[in-house]
Amino acid sequence: MQNVLVTGGAGFIGSNFVRYLLNTEMQVRVINLDALTYAGSLENLQNLPGPARYEFVKGSILDRELVDEILQKFDIDTIVHFAAESHVDRSILGPQAFVQTNIVGTFTLLEAARQLWVHGGSGRSKRVRFHHVSTDEVFGSLDPDDPAFSETTPYAPNSPYAASKASSDHLVRAYAHTYGLPITITNCSNNYGPYQFPEKLIPLIILNALEGKPLPVYGDGQQVRDWLFVEDHCEAIRLVLQKGVEGETYNVGGGNQPANLEIVQTICDLVDELRPDASLEPRRNLITFVKDRPGHDRRYAMNIQKINHDLGWSPRFALADGLRNTVAWYLDNPGWIAAIRQQQEYQGWLDKNYNSR
Ligand code: NAD
Ligand code: DAU
Repeated sequence: MQNVLVTGGAGFIGSNFVRYLLNTEMQVRVINLDALTYAGSLENLQNLPGPARYEFVKGSILDRELVDEILQKFDIDTIVHFAAESHVDRSILGPQAFVQTNIVGTFTLLEAARQLWVHGGSGRSKRVRFHHVSTDEVFGSLDPDDPAFSETTPYAPNSPYAASKASSDHLVRAYAHTYGLPITITNCSNNYGPYQFPEKLIPLIILNALEGKPLPVYGDGQQVRDWLFVEDHCEAIRLVLQKGVEGETYNVGGGNQPANLEIVQTICDLVDELRPDASLEPRRNLITFVKDRPGHDRRYAMNIQKINHDLGWSPRFALADGLRNTVAWYLDNPGWIAAIRQQQEYQGWLDKNYNSR
C-alpha cells in the first residue's frame, strides 16, 4: 500500500480515516476524491498530520475521466471507497441520488480499476486492492431473539439507502468473481464520533440538547443499533487492507446494543454534566416522541468472529467512553459546528424531515 485513493474522504468516516492513515507509521500517500456534497466539508480535514503526503481533489466518482486521470497520475494501488449518500431518512424522501452515487458511482470506480489493473495489466506488477466500505443495513432487520448478522446472512435491504448499498456490494463481488479484480468488503454497523454531520442521531441529539431544543425520538425509541466508535472502524479497515484475504468480506461492529432511547438519555446526562444549565436540566425532559421512520429497521447486531479470529480485530472503545469523548468533542468545537450549520441546505433538511412529524 503506497498510493491510496480515498473516495468520500471529506465526510464523517472518510475524514477520520484520512487522519488515521496519515497518523500511522505507514508513510502512505493519500489522495482524497470528494464531491463536497452537503455531507462533505474541508472543515473536517483541518490540521492533518503529514500534509506533504496528502492531496485533495474536488470531483465526483461519477466522472469516469477524472477517476481514470487520478488512478494514472498518482499511480494508485489501493482504493478505499467511502463516497456515498449515507442518510436513510434522505433516501426515503429522495432516493434518486442514492441510486446514482451509490450504485452508478461504485460501478464507475470499478470499471476504471478493472480497465487499468486487470486489462491494463498494472495489477500484475504491483499489489492492488479495491476496498469497498459497506453497511450492516444490507442484511435487513433482526427480531429480538435472532442471532447477529454474519458474513453469510442473506441480503434483505429494507430502505432505498440499504438497497443501493446492497447493489454496490453485489457489483464489487461480481467484479472479483468475473474479472479477478482484487477486492475486499467490510460491512459495518452504526459509527459515531467526531466530525459526524448533525443529521444523524447522535450529533443531532447533542446539538439540540446543548441548545434546549426538542430531542426527536422516532416511534417508541426501542430500535436497536450496534454502535461503534469511528476510530475502531478505521482500524478495522486498515487491518483488512493489510492482512485481509482478497475476495473476502468482513463484518465489523461494536457489540454495543442499547435501544435508541437509552442512547438519547445517556447523551442528555452527559450534556447536563459537561455543560450544566439549570434552566435546561434535566435535559431528558426535552425528549419528544415523533412519527416513526417508514419501514424502520428494528434491530441490527453484528457477529464479528471472523475479523476477530482471522485479523485479530476487536473494538477498543467501550460505548460509555466513546460517547463521553464524542459529546466532549462537540462541546469543544463550536467553530466546526457553526461552519457546518451555516449551509442553508442543512436548515432546509431539518424543516423537511421534522416539521411534518
Ligand atoms: P457521509 O455522508 O458523512 O460522507 C459521504 C461523503 O461522500 C461526503 O464527503 C460526500 O461529499 C462524498 N460524496 C457523496 N457523493 C459523492 C460523489 N459522487 N463523488 C465523490 N464524493 C461524494 O458518510 P459516512 O457516514 O462517512 O459514510 C461513509 C461510508 O461508510 C458510506 O459508504 C456509508 O454507506 C458507509 N457506512 C457508514 C456508516 C455510518 O454509521 N455512518 C456505517 C457503515 C457504513
Ligand atoms: O447501520 C449502519 C448505518 O448507520 C449506516 O449505513 C448509515 O450510513 C448511517 O446513517 C446509520 O443509519 P441509521 O439510520 O441507523 O442512523 P441514524 O443516525 O439516522 O439513526 C439511528 C437510529 O436513530 C435509527 O433507529 C433512527 C433513529 N433516529 C434517527 C434520527 C435522525 C431517531 O429516533 N431520531 C432522529 O432524529
